Amino acid sequence: MDTAILQFREVTKTFPGVTALNKISFSVEKGEIHGICGENGAGKSTLMKILAGVHPRDTYTGEVIFEGEPLNFAQGAIQQAREMGIAIVHQELALVQEMTVGENIYLGREPGGKSVINWHQLYSETQQILNRYQIDLPIGKPVSTLSVGRQQMVEIVRALSEDAKILILDEPTSALADQEVKVLMQILQTLKEQGVTCLYISHKLEEVFDITDRVTVFRDGEVVGTKKTSETSTNEIIAMMVGREMTERFPVAKRSPKEVVLEVEGLSADWSDAPGKEMLSDISFSVRAGEILGIAGLMGSGRSELVTMLFGECGRIQSGTIRICGEAVKICSAREAMKHGISLIPEDRKQQGLVLGQSILKNISLANMDRFAGFGSINKHEELNASEKMAKELAVKAPTLHAIVNSLSGGNQQKVVIGKWLMSEPKVLILDEPTRGIDVGAKYEIYKLMNKLAAEGVAIIMVSSELPEILGMSDRILVMHEGRVGGIVDRENATQENLMALATGMTAGGGM
Ligand SMILES: Nc1ncnc2c1ncn2[C@@H]1O[C@H](COP(=O)(O)OP(=O)(O)OP(=O)(O)O)[C@@H](O)[C@H]1O
Ligand SMILES: [Mg+2]
Repeated sequence: MDTAILQFREVTKTFPGVTALNKISFSVEKGEIHGICGENGAGKSTLMKILAGVHPRDTYTGEVIFEGEPLNFAQGAIQQAREMGIAIVHQELALVQEMTVGENIYLGREPGGKSVINWHQLYSETQQILNRYQIDLPIGKPVSTLSVGRQQMVEIVRALSEDAKILILDEPTSALADQEVKVLMQILQTLKEQGVTCLYISHKLEEVFDITDRVTVFRDGEVVGTKKTSETSTNEIIAMMVGREMTERFPVAKRSPKEVVLEVEGLSADWSDAPGKEMLSDISFSVRAGEILGIAGLMGSGRSELVTMLFGECGRIQSGTIRICGEAVKICSAREAMKHGISLIPEDRKQQGLVLGQSILKNISLANMDRFAGFGSINKHEELNASEKMAKELAVKAPTLHAIVNSLSGGNQQKVVIGKWLMSEPKVLILDEPTRGIDVGAKYEIYKLMNKLAAEGVAIIMVSSELPEILGMSDRILVMHEGRVGGIVDRENATQENLMALATGMTAGGGM
C-alpha cells in the first residue's frame, strides 16, 4: 500500500524470559486514527516504544518503515524520533513534578537553546497551544499541584506542541474526566483533518469505537487481525483479544448483605489547603458485610477525598463520626486503618501502591508481613505460596514472581497492587477505580474476586467513573456531588440517566 505512512514488518522483540513481540506485521495509513487493542501484556506499549526510539534498532528484529525508510534509532534516540515527527504520550506519566506546566511541555527543547532559556517565549507559545485547542491549564504552576487527570492533559499538550506527523497515545484517557475526554476527541478529529496520523491505544472500547478508523488487535505479542471499525463490533474485538467469546461483562452473584460494618455519620472535612481537593460536608452512609457499595460522581466531586478520609486522614475531619462494627473510631494513619480492618486500593497506584524496583513477590507480601512473620522470622514458604496463588487468580503476566515490577506492562502492575491489598484480608475493602487500564478479561477476574470476597462477608466500597461497572457490580450506589451526598440509590432503581442527574446536581425528573 503506497498510502501507508507506517509499516511494521515481522517486528520481534524479546526481554529475558518473555517474547513481547512476535513477528508483528501491519500497516497504518496516512491520516487515519488507528486503534490498537489487546490484553495486558500483549505488547502494545513495547511496539510503541520501538517507534518512539525508546527501544533502539539493535534490540529488535524485523523492520519498521516510516515514510518509506526503515527506522534506525541508536540508543537514546528519543529526541531524534521527536524531530522526525513521532510524538508519544506514554502510558506512565513522565513529568518532572517540581517543574511548571510550561517547563514540562518544553522539556529538552526549550526555545533559545539549553543555556539561555527564553522563558517569555516559552510561556507565550504554551499559552497559544492551550488557546488553539481550548485547553485550560495553569502554565506557571508546578505540575505537582495538579490532579493526575490534569497531569495527563499536560502530557497530551506536550505531544501536541511537537507538530507531529504521527501522534501515539498510549492509554491517554485513563485518568481524564469525561469533559476532558471530549476535548481530546475533538482535538484528534482536528488533527486528522490536518492529515496527522494517530495510533490510539485504549482499554476503553467505547472510545476506540468512537474515534478510530481501523483497529488492530494484539494477543500474546502477535497480531490477530486488523478490522475497519465500521465493519466490526465490540464483541468481535473482545473475542479477538481474549481468544474466546465473552458475552457477559459482569459475573452474576446473588448477595445477601448482613450486619453493618462501616458507618459514617455527618462527616465534614476540610481539604482547603490541598490544591485541587474538594471539601466534604455532611456525609452519611453505611456499608454492610457482604455488600458492594458503589460510589459514583464526576471527577472532583469528592469521591477520592471521601475514601482517603477513611484511610488515615483524621486531621482533616471537622465533625461527624466513623464507626466500625458499632464502635466509634479515629483513623489517623494508614496503619491504623489497616488495624481496624480497612484496606484501600488507591487510585494513583503508581505513586502510592508500588515499589517499582522490587519484585512482584515483595510488593505483594510487603503489606502483609504480619501474616508471614512469626517469632521473628518470615515464613518464606507461606509467603511464596500465598503470593503465587494471588498472582494466578489475577492472571499477572510475568515470567516469575521474582520479576521486577518495573518490567511489567502497565495493566499487570495494577494487578500487583490489587493483589497486595486483597491479601490483607480486610473487613472493609475500598477500591478506587479498580479496573482502570485493565483489559476486559482481567476485569472479569477482578469482579469475580470482589464477588467472592463479598460472599465471604467483606464490606466493599468501589469508587468508579465507569457507570456500567457501577451498575453491574453495586448493591447500592452513593452519588457524590460537590463534596456532598447527591443521593443513594438501590441497584434496582438505578439507571445511567438518574445517576448522571444526581452527579450533576439536577433533580431527576421523576423515577427517583
Ligand atoms: N523493560 C522490560 N523488561 C522486561 N519485560 C518487559 C519490559 N517491558 C515490557 N516487558 C514485557 O513485555 C510484555 C509486553 O508488555 P507491554 O508493556 O508491551 O504490554 P501492553 O500490551 O502495553 O500491556 P498493558 O495493556 O498492560 O499496558 C509483557 O510481558 C511485559 O512484562
Ligand atoms: Mg501498555
